[in-house]
Amino acid sequence: MTSTPIRSSAPGKVILFGEHAVVYGQPAIAVPITQVKATATVETAPDGSGFTIIASDLDRSCTLTQSPQNDPLAAAAQATLARLGASEPDATLTIQSAIPIASGMGSGAAVSTALIRALAEFLGHPLSPDEVSELVYEVEKIHHGTPSGIDNTVIAYEEPIYFVRERPIERLTVGEPFTLLIADTGKPSPTGKIVGRVRRNREREPAHYDALFDQIGDIADEARNAIEGGNIEDIGPLMDENHELLIELGVSSSLLNELVETARLSGAMGAKLSGAGQGGNMIALVEDDLAEDIAEALRDAGAVRVIQTQIG
Ligand code: MEV
Repeated sequence: MTSTPIRSSAPGKVILFGEHAVVYGQPAIAVPITQVKATATVETAPDGSGFTIIASDLDRSCTLTQSPQNDPLAAAAQATLARLGASEPDATLTIQSAIPIASGMGSGAAVSTALIRALAEFLGHPLSPDEVSELVYEVEKIHHGTPSGIDNTVIAYEEPIYFVRERPIERLTVGEPFTLLIADTGKPSPTGKIVGRVRRNREREPAHYDALFDQIGDIADEARNAIEGGNIEDIGPLMDENHELLIELGVSSSLLNELVETARLSGAMGAKLSGAGQGGNMIALVEDDLAEDIAEALRDAGAVRVIQTQIG
C-alpha cells in the first residue's frame, strides 16, 4: 500500500467489424480509442474509514460496505481485492470518465479497467493486461449477461485486436494507418438489452441468424487481411457490407442509417454502425483531406459529437 495517490486510466474502444456475431463465436476486430479515457485515482484515507468510491461525473459516492447490490464499481473493487487476497483498504478512489455512457465506446469496461488497475497498484500488486481483462469480464457479466469479452480485452490491452471468443488474444498489425470518424447519435445503446433481443430472435430463427453471423465473420476475416496488408481501399466496402448485415440483424436505427448514408454521400470510403447499435455510434473511413467536411455533414445530420482518430 502507498501513501502517494495512484492514478490509472483506460481508453474507450470501437468495434470495426463483427459486433453481435462475436457473441456467437465469430471473429471481430476492435481498436482502442485513446482520445477518450476513464481515469481512477486512489488516495489513502484516515484509519478505519474503509474504502470509498466516488464517481465524480455521476455525482455519486458510496463506501464498499454500503454499496448497492450489483453496483459495477463496487463489484470491480471486490473482484480485485478477492484476486489479490487483500482486505478492504482505508482509501478513497475517484473515477472520472470522458467516454460517453451507453454509446458503444466501452465506457463501462474502461471505468472498471481504470479502477482495477489503480486499486491493484495502490495495494502494491500491479496486474497484467490479461488479469485485468479477466476481472473486467466478471464485472461486464453483471450488466451485459453474455458479453463476448471483446470490450474488456481491447481496453485492457490497449491495442488493435482480432478477437474470437475463448481463444487467446491476437494483436492486429495495421499495415497502413487510416482515419476514422466516430459519430455519436446521442441515443443510448443498451448493450445487454440489444444482445438479449438478438438472442431471442436467433432462438426463433436459428438458421437465418447463424447464416448472418457466418457472413459477418467472413467479412471480419477479409477485413483483417485488408488492415494487415495496408489495403485501405478494401476496408470501406467491407464496412458497408457489415452494416447491411447489421440492419438485417435488426440492430440499426433510422438515425444510424442516416448518418451512415450521409458519410458515404459526403465522400467516406465506407461506414457502419459500431457496437451494440440501436443508438450509440457509427464509424466512417475517411481520407484526411475530407475528414472535416464529412464530420460537419454528420453533425448537420444529427450527430451530437464527432471524434476523428487515426488507427495504426
Ligand atoms: C458490444 O461492444 C459488442 C457486442 O458484440 C456485444 C459483445 O460482444 O459482448 C454487441
